[in-house]
Amino acid sequence: MGAYRDTYERSLTDPDRFWRDAAAAVDWTRMPTRVLDGDRPPFYRWFPDAELNTCHNALDRHVAAGRGEDTALIYDSPVTATLRTYSFRRLRDEVARCAGALRRLGVERGDRVVVYMAMVPEAVITMLACARLGAVHSVVFGGFGPKELAARIDDARPKVVVATSCGIEGSRVVAYKPLLDAALAEAAHRPAHRVILQREQAPGELAPGDLTWADALDGAADAACVPVAATDPLYILYTSGTTGRPKGVVRDNGGHAVALTWSMANVYATGAGDVFWAASDVGWVVGHSYIVYGPLLAGATTVLYEGKPVGTPDAGAFFRVVEQHKVTALFTAPTAIRAIRKEDPEGRLAARHDTGTLRTLFLAGERLDPQTYEWAGQTLGVPVVDHWWQTETGWPVAANLRGLEPMPTKPGSPSVPVPGFDVRVLLPDGTPAPPGVDGAIVIGLPLPPGCLPTLWQDDERFVASYLSAFPGVYLTGDGGRFDEDGYLYVMGRTDDVINVAGHRLSTGAMEEVLAAHPAVAECAVIGVDDELKGQVPRGFVVLKAGVDTAADVVEQQLVALVRERIGAVAALRTVRVVPALPKTRSGKILRGTMRGIAGGGDPAVPSTIEDPSVLDTLRPILRQER
Ligand code: COA
Ligand code: AMP
Repeated sequence: MGAYRDTYERSLTDPDRFWRDAAAAVDWTRMPTRVLDGDRPPFYRWFPDAELNTCHNALDRHVAAGRGEDTALIYDSPVTATLRTYSFRRLRDEVARCAGALRRLGVERGDRVVVYMAMVPEAVITMLACARLGAVHSVVFGGFGPKELAARIDDARPKVVVATSCGIEGSRVVAYKPLLDAALAEAAHRPAHRVILQREQAPGELAPGDLTWADALDGAADAACVPVAATDPLYILYTSGTTGRPKGVVRDNGGHAVALTWSMANVYATGAGDVFWAASDVGWVVGHSYIVYGPLLAGATTVLYEGKPVGTPDAGAFFRVVEQHKVTALFTAPTAIRAIRKEDPEGRLAARHDTGTLRTLFLAGERLDPQTYEWAGQTLGVPVVDHWWQTETGWPVAANLRGLEPMPTKPGSPSVPVPGFDVRVLLPDGTPAPPGVDGAIVIGLPLPPGCLPTLWQDDERFVASYLSAFPGVYLTGDGGRFDEDGYLYVMGRTDDVINVAGHRLSTGAMEEVLAAHPAVAECAVIGVDDELKGQVPRGFVVLKAGVDTAADVVEQQLVALVRERIGAVAALRTVRVVPALPKTRSGKILRGTMRGIAGGGDPAVPSTIEDPSVLDTLRPILRQER
């Protein structure tokens, strides 16, 4: 591991030099003279005196370099039978027009724009248009419902919300406009304008003051790129924490552009001429980093796929896309591969397609189980690269660095720490865990460029959530270990965040919805293992005394309520009414113990338990024996 070792060492011993060199790959309107501002620990800023525009780096610079006619984006939508390609020039022109339209609606540098859109090119165009103006986008995943959307609108306080009238989920059309209206009715903040991209599958009903996308853009002047400080926010992306209130992860402009550009070359081995396909959604961090910004910053072609791994029309869809668009790198979540394998275990549909252009399959978002790893490798005949990261970091923390130095992969491990990330595993007393021993995975400060500098307008919560458990390090919330060769094994979350089909969700948010039902006295939601989705949530509620509604009726109402409020993506399908929940004497619900039992284990019962007989009653229910 020569090149890797050497690079990794340099990144930690002389980060200033390392990131100054990396910054040379980005176009600046004012070059950085300082690299790291560490004057106010634990708050660090990268490239504090530099200026740039991220949209310029993603689009205009490639046009200026004579690559205007090269393909920037391929929109492949089996659910609407649409295929559209955008050259860098066309995408730049459409982004400039959209930016002009937003400006006409009053959006200026620093203003927020909430984007609630399906996987359509206009979503990418809106994001880049915000970047062009120095405005801050906050994309909300389309699978989220009114409660989640309202929480994000109230926190980000956008001037404008841009939405599609609907999304298309396989054969089901999901009307987004009524969800947006419900969210706006619930939110305290009122955005000045709503822009709706009307889709023929379900046009939205416009309220007074709503504008269609077509009307908003009609006659708008093209807007030029506005230089911003490297430390200015590019976007806010809300992610699930342990409570019902999502965390507003902030991404800056300069560090982000430098880190993603570095990652495209060194992790993904992708550059101009390559076709990069992240089969995710623009609503998640994978979509932000590797559908939109990463590939375009690197001058590669990105694929925007509006479809599913199965059912649109079948389990051969991913292989069809790879063949048709000559995809060189595919990035998806293990769940997607499991869904394909379930429908086509022999890989017959895959075999019908020539996927010879593909060099690597990258998987992330949840733990990669060895079976999926093996099947994917055999079916595609390319290296399968597990890599680990999170919304907060914005780019991979541990990976097999295909561009820097490909190394042997080990099933169950996302390989080694990426340069810039001082990854450590700590025991509960804060001392380093020896190889082979599990502990909390942390990252030494400062985090490298591209990672969150703070939470949106909440430095206090940033420190409390990530920097308080152990001094001088960032707590990832994941547990795991190193092996003797320095390979990291990520075993799962140590908090109440769960991962359902590669979607990060908060059990706390679901508990809030359950607790709001008038019949519910108390409740707990836990994540349990699931063959397809990795994890799924299960809810347990205790009813208030005197409730005379039948338990199964309340259970159904609660399932429906979570779907309606948080969104279908919560995938909470079972809620059980139980006589009591296991608690400590101080009243804390023993969710960890419940998780252990539901997972088939026999965890030690904490000595602080208030009434051990509660667990005896619950055990068969948790194990779904009755
Ligand atoms: N808008 C509206 N609804 C959405 C949605 C969106 N953008 N995304 C998901 N949903 C809905 C689904 O239609 C589903 O509804 P249903 O309960 O009526 O069936 C529900 O939310 C749960 O979705 P999901 O958990 O994704 O299950 P699924 O059965 O629809 O699909 C997979 C399963 C594995 C095919 C799918 O989860 C998948 O492709 N996962 C890849 C994950 C991924 O891209 N992760 C991003 C990080 S890399
Ligand atoms: P998100 O913020 O949505 O990207 O989710 C991040 C979380 O997903 C991490 O904290 C991990 O729990 C999990 N995760 C992501 N990638 C991996 C991986 N390769 N292996 C194990 N867990 C992963």
